[in-house]
Amino acid sequence: MDMKILAIDTSCDDTCASVIEDGKIVSNVISSQISLHEEWGGVVPNLARRAHLERIDAVIAKALHKNPFLTLPLTGQGNYFEGIDVIGVTIGPGLSPALGVGVDKAKELAKKYNKKLVAVNHVEGHLLSPFLTNSKGKPERDIKLPILALTVSGGHTKIVLIKEIGKYEVVGESLDDAGGEALDKASKMLGLGYPGGPIIEKLAKSGNPLFLTLPIPMKGSKDLNMSFSGLKTAFYYAIRKWDQEKIIENLENLAASFQKAVFDSLLFKFNKAIDEYKVKSLFGVGGVMNNMSLRRELRKLAKSKNLPIYFPFQKNLNGDNAAMIGLVACHKAKGGEFTRHIDKLDREPRLEL
Ligand code: KG4
Ligand code: ZN
Repeated sequence: MDMKILAIDTSCDDTCASVIEDGKIVSNVISSQISLHEEWGGVVPNLARRAHLERIDAVIAKALHKNPFLTLPLTGQGNYFEGIDVIGVTIGPGLSPALGVGVDKAKELAKKYNKKLVAVNHVEGHLLSPFLTNSKGKPERDIKLPILALTVSGGHTKIVLIKEIGKYEVVGESLDDAGGEALDKASKMLGLGYPGGPIIEKLAKSGNPLFLTLPIPMKGSKDLNMSFSGLKTAFYYAIRKWDQEKIIENLENLAASFQKAVFDSLLFKFNKAIDEYKVKSLFGVGGVMNNMSLRRELRKLAKSKNLPIYFPFQKNLNGDNAAMIGLVACHKAKGGEFTRHIDKLDREPRLEL
């Protein structure tokens, strides 16, 4: 049976809604709040909440309007939930005030239109994002399990063994800052703005990555865990006595060196994980996978291990989106994992995988 899902994600600074039919993207709307937060150098939770509240209805309406199963005109009154079977929503992890907007909206709509509700873990969304396809089911990928996934965003950094869909084991993770968060903080330290990842990437292209030698924290540890807060401190101490001029002269070199340090850490532990777990495929997911140099290194690594590596098929599926939440909701709905008491559903900002 084909199932049509309306999915909602407001976990951070993007207001997202999507209609998914069996892993196929019918519509995927992402309203970014970057312009609101950049002047503060990071996401301000209460500003994010207010912006989500202002935008959520329009974002959902846009996602539903694109639903081809709808026979109603694009304007005027009508039940745009015709054809939707289930509502899926991110309950965590994420920023508590932001998450609340999506969760409340999903509860309101589920009750009003008498739909079943599925609660989704945001990280699981990122993990399954390479399975998404366009509305025609393309690209067709024959992805073989088990999979080892490297997921890196502004909120988390994990190496996860996907035994099967719904069965995960976190085999390694950052014990402090996330990889994206480290890039964001380095960018802020250099006075370059938010989000830092794309800014650092652009500068790094014309810089010398060997200009500064930064450590690979936890390189010697036997486990697959990582740490990025020490890197930020090492970076701070390396440049703290420099005058403005020297920093500006070397911005490209500093960006390249810091980026290399973050990626070396990820690649070192992912490499180790691949050797320890016999898998058939590799995944690279999360907002930091927008970075072309990281993708190139991961492709090289995969090739050296003779394994296929998959990224989401479209760039806007690396970062936050509701399509990936819809995909998880779809699997859960098929397994009958619905929220029993809609009124009792609550956000879980620290939800674990
Ligand atoms: O997955 P995501 O959109 O949101 C979270 O769940 O956090 O990830 C956002 C993170 C930010 O830290 C941002 O700096 C980073 O992804 N990012 C990048 C790039 N684009 C976004 N990092 C490196 N290179 C990029 N091109
Ligand atoms: Zn995310």
